[in-house]
Amino acid sequence: MSTKEIILKKLEENRDKFISGEDLATELNLSRTAIWKAVNSLKDEGFIINSSTNKGYKLDDSCDKISKYGVLFNLRDELKNSDIIVYDSIDSTNTEAKRLLYSENLKNFTILISDEQTMGRGRTGKSFASPKGTGIYISIVLFPDERFNFNAFDLITVKAAVAVVNAIKNKTNKNPEIKWVNDIFLNHKKICGILSEADADFESHEIKSVIVGIGLNFKTKDKDFGKDLKAIAGSLLKDKESSLLRNEMAAEIINEFYDSYYNLSDEEVLKIYKDNSLLLGRQVSFEKNGVKYEAKAIDINDKGNLVVELENKEIMTLLSGEVSVKGEF
Ligand code: BTN
Repeated sequence: MSTKEIILKKLEENRDKFISGEDLATELNLSRTAIWKAVNSLKDEGFIINSSTNKGYKLDDSCDKISKYGVLFNLRDELKNSDIIVYDSIDSTNTEAKRLLYSENLKNFTILISDEQTMGRGRTGKSFASPKGTGIYISIVLFPDERFNFNAFDLITVKAAVAVVNAIKNKTNKNPEIKWVNDIFLNHKKICGILSEADADFESHEIKSVIVGIGLNFKTKDKDFGKDLKAIAGSLLKDKESSLLRNEMAAEIINEFYDSYYNLSDEEVLKIYKDNSLLLGRQVSFEKNGVKYEAKAIDINDKGNLVVELENKEIMTLLSGEVSVKGEF
């Protein structure tokens, strides 16, 4: 670990107090000037650090820069040894994860987080707006212990959606809702999308790895979404509404995903998913094989598929696709 990294780790772990420059110098066996230089270099990277001649150094409360040590500090014990890679900017954390899969030996549950994505990807080839400094863009790489077949991953996106909803409820007083299958809504606007991608072997029907990508508009301002998205995209928090940090929220999403993936049963996950569903009980419209339908959303089955009842009482099961909610919601 470099001097800069050690200092940042200490600052992240002690956000509520000043750390003396002298203590840091003694502990790291460096001059106070070397410490001062490392702190300045962190400031150049965008960390807002208060320096006081008498008291030392402290991260400013307003410093919301994502950092590996800030996230790690807030992770549950089981995840403290996770590999976390933080980017200032990347095309897409999912795309980068795929590149790394082919070039490096990644550990199970490797986490990639970026402050910005220049080519964030959504489902069905859509883009995902990922402006700098206000969102949380995460990819988690999973290597199943055994050679799972495709069906074992039916619920992966459902588990990620449940993790996001739980994390938001743990950290805020908000009540987000899940719009089947992978969108999280708050106050009629989409605040989060999930894109799970598998590296699969079609011959053996086995999945070698899965990348779970989660994008949350955390403190994103309307103006940052661009014209087309303003009407439909929202953000979890308004600017200055809360002192909650992106490091804390990112860690909570990861903690909750660990829980829904490893600890909760499929039944438990589905119950939380349904309890927080935006669609269940509502009239919806959708298109299937070129035909337009209107129906009532009545259930999410054990594979995470949406079950709807048409006006003629016929039951239909939707595996994927866009569903619109009719009327006010
Ligand atoms: C959607 O809304 O259709 C899914 C959006 C998924 C966005 C996340 S952000 C992190 C990861 N990297 C990407 O390029 N996409 C996912």
